[in-house]
Amino acid sequence: MSGSYYLRNHWYVVAHDFELVDAKPIARTICDIPMVIFRGEDGSVGVLNDRCPHRMAPLSSGQVCGNDIQCGYHGIRFNAQGDCTAIPGGLDIPKGFRTTRYPAVERHGFIWAWLGEKAATPETIPDFHENNGEGWAPVPGYLNIACNYQLMVDNILDLTHVVFVHPTTLAGGGVTETPLEVRIEGDKVFAQRMMHNVDTANIYRAARGLNGKIDRWQIFEYSPPMYVKIVLGAKEAGAQTPMGEPVHVVLNSFTPESENRIHYFWSTTRPWGLGDQKVDDIYRTMIELAFNEDKVIVEAQQRLIDSDPATAHLVNLPFDRAGQSARRVLKRLMDEEQGAGTRQAAE
Ligand code: FES
Ligand SMILES: [Fe+2]
Repeated sequence: MSGSYYLRNHWYVVAHDFELVDAKPIARTICDIPMVIFRGEDGSVGVLNDRCPHRMAPLSSGQVCGNDIQCGYHGIRFNAQGDCTAIPGGLDIPKGFRTTRYPAVERHGFIWAWLGEKAATPETIPDFHENNGEGWAPVPGYLNIACNYQLMVDNILDLTHVVFVHPTTLAGGGVTETPLEVRIEGDKVFAQRMMHNVDTANIYRAARGLNGKIDRWQIFEYSPPMYVKIVLGAKEAGAQTPMGEPVHVVLNSFTPESENRIHYFWSTTRPWGLGDQKVDDIYRTMIELAFNEDKVIVEAQQRLIDSDPATAHLVNLPFDRAGQSARRVLKRLMDEEQGAGTRQAAE
């Protein structure tokens, strides 16, 4: 496994945008860092280290006041830049009295925070526009899972598991028999599986009325550290419509909370049936069931890895190739970042 090192100079999804309501701050640990996430009166989002620099109480125990967060212990206020703005009693603010601030961007229906010391680069935020773009109907969700994030990257990049883990929802024909085509381009991993004339899956039965044989596709895009977009679809076998168009897209952020726990922010979104509550319900019911099944299997996997880490060698088979490629990219980036850190320390 990766140890407790995380890539720093990257964006991390820290919340769904709809979680920031009623001026309530959110306390959430991201990559072992306690953070408070809040939305000011002007709509802007702040992400700060949750430790109040006064006496280390959690800022999140307080409340949002205007555009500031007010610590719940002695009422000292900080703005979204992390600077102290007021101390009760009108006391002078000591020079440099501040908490660490993480650059934050609200985009694609998610709140993204930058953990690195390099300048934040909003242009490198993964393109998850399907979550809130015009013409898309998202069904979002969240799960807290007790596993290292790489286990969930492995899981989502190897959908042969749907046959065994999700028998009542996503399972169908062709998945285990059809090889996964994988390629690495720069820091990204692309993979796909195109299946012809295979048994349908319950999700396509329920959502699309596809009861007979289908042509089916799974198209994956991994972006480090832990983002996976999957375009999924099916049509009646042999129908003339092209393969590869999304029936639905699953957006995944396996944000590390700690070494062996993640915040799983997901959204299943589709470019049809907009405003159709019945279709939303089908997706919500089936995907929540399926992702909870994933949680059970990967948490069990993590427990067994932890029970004897020295002998927990993972074996790679052909259907693990996408996950294996993602691990390779991640390792290279970690080596580069750690190498740069070591060089800086030596200089
Ligand atoms: S600990 Fe936060 S104001 Fe005192
Ligand atoms: Fe799954």
